[in-house]
Amino acid sequence: MTAPTLDESRGTDTSTLGSLTSAQLARLCGVAGLSAVDAKTYAALLAEALGPVAERPLHLPPPSRTCLSDDHTPVEYSLSFLPDGACALRVLVEPGCAAPDLARNGRVGLDVIRDMAYRWGFSTDRLDELEDLFLPPAPQGALALWCALELRPGGIPMLKVYLNPAANGAEHCAETVREALDRLGHGQAFASLPPADGYPFLALDLGDWESPRVKVYLRHDRLSVAEAAGLSRMDAGPGPAEIERFLRTASGLGESVFGDDLLGAVETGPDGEERLTGRPVLTCHAFTKTSVGRPTGFTLHVPVRGYAAHDGESLSRATDVLRAYGMDPAPLPRALAAVTSRPLEDGVGLVAYLALAHQRGRPPRVTTYISSEAYDVRPPATPRPVTAATATG
Ligand code: TRP
Repeated sequence: MTAPTLDESRGTDTSTLGSLTSAQLARLCGVAGLSAVDAKTYAALLAEALGPVAERPLHLPPPSRTCLSDDHTPVEYSLSFLPDGACALRVLVEPGCAAPDLARNGRVGLDVIRDMAYRWGFSTDRLDELEDLFLPPAPQGALALWCALELRPGGIPMLKVYLNPAANGAEHCAETVREALDRLGHGQAFASLPPADGYPFLALDLGDWESPRVKVYLRHDRLSVAEAAGLSRMDAGPGPAEIERFLRTASGLGESVFGDDLLGAVETGPDGEERLTGRPVLTCHAFTKTSVGRPTGFTLHVPVRGYAAHDGESLSRATDVLRAYGMDPAPLPRALAAVTSRPLEDGVGLVAYLALAHQRGRPPRVTTYISSEAYDVRPPATPRPVTAATATG
């Protein structure tokens, strides 16, 4: 554990989970071009979503073993880039992280969502329709409810709710997802999904969205590059070559001079097929009312932290990807500096995921997920020594 330091140079109070994350978020708002007034509003909103746990001193251990982030901080940021130079800031939070069990964790989460919806006049109908399915009396699995806020200018965010398909037992994940899609009027959606090794999340857009989505996240263990290339099911989505290019850049495949996997996270089979054997890649398939059966959105989530030695490497891959899409990478290093003052080479995981998102009728987006590291920094990975044999052979 790295002890949280008093960050006097920035004049922020880093004594509690709420004060640290609010300060991180306020600085990120500045990077994303939001006004000082919006930054203040959103920093307060994050503390409010955390509830009493915001007051928890940071020298205490994390309030729970939440899997929202690697060090169990119940908060994660993301910065989504568009080709026109704009970037959108989001924050993911687990409002019920301090609850004694998953059932109460979910109740707290629901209350927070309903309070926000009431305040801004959003309907929660679609969530209400799924409540019994995802928040049964004795839910199982790794999470109950997470909430993401898309921080638009003006101080009224858009909401996303993340639910757990394993709530009725891991063996019923697929059924739960199918039933949820059915209830929301997407009876043919499940059949259009590609093969998967798991269903980690189902997410709903709530609020002022042009076309609110229901999103199904899939987990792909030991995914090969060739398999990844064929995972999009949307019409006019990214083609195999685009997916492959993104995956290779984000995961660092083929980067090593020796064609060697120095981190032990990539495997090349006898057939020459390259597989990502470290942290699994996820895909997300979005369905909107306008679609018949097929998804209108596809996102590839690459857990770059499982394939990089340190965050300097992750930043350089993100920069390459952003440039390839004609996006200005300049906000990203500023965003990382808004969250931490540690050298990027001193840890791995500050950049959690790099994602390529396609949505029908919109230009593609590249999203970078940024950890708070309120509790811990994972030490950099030590590449396996390059032996004379690998160097020459
Ligand atoms: N920490 C979890 C994971 O790594 C969940 C999660 C947090 C996540 N942010 C994410 C998953 C962004 C995908 C994309 O899987």
